Amino acid sequence: MANEDQIESILESARLIVCAGPGGVGKTTTSAALGLKGALHGRKVIVLTIDPAKRLANSLGLDELTNDPQQIDLSERIPDQDTDGELWAMMLDQQQTLDDLVARYAPDSGALARSKDNNIYKLLSSTLAGMQEYMALDKLHDLYTGGYYDLVVLDTPPTKNALDFLNTPSRARQFFDDRIMKWFIPSKNQKKGLFSKVFDAGGSVVNTLLGRIFGDSFVQDLVDFFETLSFLQEALRSRGDMIDFILRDPQTHFVVITSADQRRIKEALFFHDKLGQLDQEAAAFILNRVIPGFEADDLTSFDVEDLGDLGDVDVDKFESALSEHYEHLARLAKHNKDLVEKFGKEVGPERLRAIPLFGEDVHDITQLRRLGEYLG
Ligand SMILES: Nc1ncnc2c1ncn2[C@@H]1O[C@H](COP(=O)(O)OP(=O)(O)O)[C@@H](O)[C@H]1O
Ligand SMILES: [Mg+2]
Repeated sequence: MANEDQIESILESARLIVCAGPGGVGKTTTSAALGLKGALHGRKVIVLTIDPAKRLANSLGLDELTNDPQQIDLSERIPDQDTDGELWAMMLDQQQTLDDLVARYAPDSGALARSKDNNIYKLLSSTLAGMQEYMALDKLHDLYTGGYYDLVVLDTPPTKNALDFLNTPSRARQFFDDRIMKWFIPSKNQKKGLFSKVFDAGGSVVNTLLGRIFGDSFVQDLVDFFETLSFLQEALRSRGDMIDFILRDPQTHFVVITSADQRRIKEALFFHDKLGQLDQEAAAFILNRVIPGFEADDLTSFDVEDLGDLGDVDVDKFESALSEHYEHLARLAKHNKDLVEKFGKEVGPERLRAIPLFGEDVHDITQLRRLGEYLG
């Protein structure tokens, strides 16, 4: 239930926090800030990021984030804070995650090597719609069920439609239920899919015809690719069910992040609406990069002379440009303030946190902590 310390309380008890929202609003940054906060609450946290800026990794003291969890040395990064908590971070590498899946479920060790050389596998694993979302959820499955971490903070891919993300488990199932897919993937009591059988039986005719159209290696790749998929099918299905279960768990909380513009707020509300499909609702809404308010005397207390020697700058012109700029910002700030109030009325002010626009990108651990203060 929403209360004043909603984020603090979920940081203490949640097993999974999903940071969702439109692209570019600050999901990755907020995930990192929430993860850090969780670790400072004494929990063992892993932040699974999707597309982190390299500088974010650097500021955490890592060369780069990889597909394997790396621990951030909190005692070195934040010497003034003593915590038993741990902060780990990783970045989703969808190809690596898929390869790991194949390696785990392939009936023989050569299958992965064959897949890696398979042009269709290579192409589809990077371009198939939803593959990134699926692999993110698959990684989540492993981190969540692995037993080491108390809390997983999941950053979400920059999907155009955030809903795709929620529907990923069922889409993965649909993918395999698809009639076309059944052509290619053998059913339980068959060894080969229809396509393979036709391909084998037709031998030279089909082979030659398809080979002529698409090239010999393409046809062989196609057959091999679907054979690879066939042994992934069951694994992905059952993992899909488990992921659905995890997303619906009462200890899973969704934080919806957006920015102070109408269109993105609308997108966030729409997403929130759809969370109902999982019997979930947003635990908190974060309005990021809100223009901070201006005090009336901000400008009057400013003295151009304090700037020192301005060379041949026309001071009058400079002052009038400055005041025009100031008025513009003040209008924007007022507009943002109204939006925060309006949005707060819609979702309940206790559920809403506004984070101001910082003067620079948030890549530094001190900045992440500062940003985290607005989340508490
Ligand atoms: N409150 C803020 N003030 C200033 N810059 C911010 C703020 N929040 C995020 N940023 C910066 O905006 C950029 C995009 O943020 P990011 O978290 O990567 O967004 P997303 O993951 O939603 O695409 C990053 O460079 C980040 O440092
Ligand atoms: Mg991001």
